[in-house]
Amino acid sequence: MELCVIPGDGVGIEVIPAAVRVLQQVVPDVQIQYADAGWDYFEKNGTPLPESTITLAEQCKAVLYGAAASPSYPVENYYIPGVRLRRILKTYANLRPTRYMPVPTSRPGVNLIVVRENTEDVYVGHEYTQDSGRVGISEKVVTREATERIAHKAFQLARRTGRKKVTIVHKASVMTQTDGLFRKVALEVAQEYADIATDELLVDTAAYWMVKNPARFDMILTSNLYGDILSDMAAAWGGGLGLAPSLSLGDDVAIAEPVHGCAPDIAGQGIANPTASILSVAMLLRHHWRREDDARNIEEAVYAVLSEGDHTTDIYSEGAISTADFTDKICSHLNSK
Ligand code: NAI
Ligand code: MG
Repeated sequence: MELCVIPGDGVGIEVIPAAVRVLQQVVPDVQIQYADAGWDYFEKNGTPLPESTITLAEQCKAVLYGAAASPSYPVENYYIPGVRLRRILKTYANLRPTRYMPVPTSRPGVNLIVVRENTEDVYVGHEYTQDSGRVGISEKVVTREATERIAHKAFQLARRTGRKKVTIVHKASVMTQTDGLFRKVALEVAQEYADIATDELLVDTAAYWMVKNPARFDMILTSNLYGDILSDMAAAWGGGLGLAPSLSLGDDVAIAEPVHGCAPDIAGQGIANPTASILSVAMLLRHHWRREDDARNIEEAVYAVLSEGDHTTDIYSEGAISTADFTDKICSHLNSK
């Protein structure tokens, strides 16, 4: 087993090595290779994602990716390396589960997963300005091929993991040609999975239900932008962004990546919550390497440590421990098994 590890920027440098420690605890012979990407690397070298990183990722077929700091304005030659890497590796399905966690910030009864199309929509980066910068235009791309692929992935995952209902989320009422196509194709694919219930919601209504009654959801199947936003909302019910894992899956390749970004407000202090990255590694073990027992052991260790009241400052400040101490607790829990 080989893993290409890309810590990236900010808290990525703190939480990704913590997740590597936990992985090494359960799979001592895993081959770890570190690689560069991100804003800091771009500032020094002029590219956010060097060829050497792409080559290593392609060779390993498994990546653990932290986060990259990306400015909210155009910078020449910069692009978001994570989004590019997902496209290059063809990890077309992004799985973002949220479930109740034993912390006061989590909501009992929640157990849902957002399955997000990971390669197209407005994230293709076809953007330009006209009229001397007075008009900004973005292309939203939805294809039958990518929609069929993500829909099959979602329904197969629902079957494999015992989920009962898939909610297709879109805004086809406004974007009839793009979201309309996503909706039509997803509903067609749903017909092939008669054992799984299907319903649909407009994305704004889905956001409302995500706040009002998140237990309404089992699996959400949606496009790239809505999946990004709804999964951050869902993460709040799982205890917060510090605990929210994700996995970008292709047919024989996967990127484990926490939902959160590089958290500049807390970076460099050694206080970030490594749980999101650790649980992303558990997802890699389960869905890509097919090592269910190892995945479950990690999840149980995280659950046990949180249940004992150990926590980082994002959960609550009183009695909070550092990233390193929290990771130690998880490792010693795994060790004691
Ligand atoms: P963020 O996810 O970095 O932070 C949002 C809030 O959650 C902050 O208050 C932060 O302190 C907290 N948080 C996030 N991760 C945490 C952790 N592990 N432990 C404890 N608290 C945590 O989102 P924000 O602030 O909007 O974006 C910051 C930068 O990250 C931006 O440059 C953005 O472009 C980038 N970003 C990168 C992503 C990626 O590379 N995959 C994903 C999301 C944002
Ligand atoms: Mg996001």
